[in-house]
Amino acid sequence: LSSTEVDLGQIQEGQIVTVKWRGKPVFVWNRSAKDIEEAKAVPVSALLDPIARNPNLATPDSPATDANRAAVGEGREKWLVVIGICTHLGCVPIGHMGEYDGWFCPCHGSEYDSAGRVRRGPAPENLWIPPYNFVSDTKISIG
Ligand code: FES
Repeated sequence: LSSTEVDLGQIQEGQIVTVKWRGKPVFVWNRSAKDIEEAKAVPVSALLDPIARNPNLATPDSPATDANRAAVGEGREKWLVVIGICTHLGCVPIGHMGEYDGWFCPCHGSEYDSAGRVRRGPAPENLWIPPYNFVSDTKISIG
């Protein structure tokens, strides 16, 4: 199956870009220091879904800390790559909306934070993370 390459050099700080991967929207967010600090400040015990759900980790069901949700590697934690499908019933959430500075789902009001973790239901799970890797410092390949 096909993969999608994303040129990160085109994405400004604070900007969320939507790309298509296998027909699905994928959000690629160049997070600001504030977005990252906010996500790091949340204890895992306060999360509705405490599981990272990151297939790029050696252990995908590690705790949903910011480090386990963001891109791995020196200088890469600003990148958050998530599938843009609400884990409730599949609507596309809207970025930079809601109380948690991540996404708001217009269908039934679920909210996600700046690590793509669900903070208000009815969505049961954090936004899913696609498999991806860095092909260079400024380019990722999803899939
Ligand atoms: Fe997103 Fe229901 S589909 S809250």
